[in-house]
Amino acid sequence: MTEKPTMIAFQDVHKYYGDYHALRGITATIRAGEFFSLLGPSGCGKTTLLRTIAGFEGISSGAVMIDERNMAGVPANQRPTNMVFQSYAIFPHLTVGENVGFGLRRAGLSKPELATRVGEALEMVGLKGYGDRAAHALSGGQRQRVALARALILKPKVLLLDEPLSALDKKMREQMQVELIRLQRQVGITFILVTHDQEEALVMSDRIAVMFEGEITQLADPETLYRRPNSRKVANFIGTMNFLPAMILAEGAGKIEVEAKGFGKLTLDAEQAPGGGQASAEGAAIGFRPETLTILFDGQTASDRETMAVIEEVVYFGDMTYYDVKLDGCDAPVRISMRNVFGRPVLDIGTRTRVAWSPGALVLFR
Ligand SMILES: Nc1ncnc2c1ncn2[C@@H]1O[C@H](COP(=O)(O)OP(=O)(O)OP(=O)(O)O)[C@@H](O)[C@H]1O
Ligand SMILES: [Mg+2]
Repeated sequence: MTEKPTMIAFQDVHKYYGDYHALRGITATIRAGEFFSLLGPSGCGKTTLLRTIAGFEGISSGAVMIDERNMAGVPANQRPTNMVFQSYAIFPHLTVGENVGFGLRRAGLSKPELATRVGEALEMVGLKGYGDRAAHALSGGQRQRVALARALILKPKVLLLDEPLSALDKKMREQMQVELIRLQRQVGITFILVTHDQEEALVMSDRIAVMFEGEITQLADPETLYRRPNSRKVANFIGTMNFLPAMILAEGAGKIEVEAKGFGKLTLDAEQAPGGGQASAEGAAIGFRPETLTILFDGQTASDRETMAVIEEVVYFGDMTYYDVKLDGCDAPVRISMRNVFGRPVLDIGTRTRVAWSPGALVLFR
């Protein structure tokens, strides 16, 4: 597969608000046609970074390039970008069609041309035939679609979306997520989504930049972020990660020998330590996701390694059961998630059980 060309390049971007250092050396590229997300906790600088692309926010140093052009001094209205905001900024006194066509009113299109473009944009967002409705009478989800149509009709190269779904209820949000993915594939333009919802980012994105305190901590595709987080911070922000204390015994030739509580001595590949070499004060730990351990029921054989554990807590979720178990030799419990299978019992607290695990699923944090 050939790599897509670069659409946005951040080159060591810093941003100060007075004394406050909001962006701390952002260097990253976003590819043309990519669905890209900026993910991180509140206040980490996601909106600020998005606004530097749109030109609503100047930068203190570094460069923002769009389509190989340095955007320094280029005002927002001359950039090939368009932004959809969290609060649907639509004009309530206009019709849906007038809202969608608003940005084109000075483009010198004839009435029929304008009507065609508005009709196309409404169809893209699933609002075909809504053009004459009063905008104020729409639901939250419909308003967000109008805001999307209004941005898309201008045919930007890059669509910037700042938490566009956060005001919607869960059902509506999930539906709009699927529609946004479909829409992005259909129009093929670069989408950059800001969200603090890790699930939303995982579901929607080709790649995700995880931000903390004005920096990008890891930039990768969803599977890599989930399977090989480069730090405890990223591991904890995306999904659930179990940690067990570990000691590094030796390393070299692409292998790392560790001794981990509960698992004993094992050899990991260097790629299982994606955070690189710097040691932390907390000491090393191995991490693993709850679904990478499996409780073995009577007669089942382990596909890889096996150890013993005692069940300390059981949380039943219908399709899943979470077991907090203490592996032999460990002081603290770890969480195992098991998909429930018809006819198989949910185990009780206090049960001693066999647990299967695999060294390949482990991640080493230093
Ligand atoms: N105009 C401003 N003046 C001073 N400080 C600002 C300004 N805008 C943002 N900040 C600060 O910069 C930091 C980053 O803000 P930003 O809005 O980019 O965060 P965010 O990641 O989008 O957060 P949220 O998820 O809450 O929207 C915050 O600490 C914020 O208080
Ligand atoms: Mg924000």
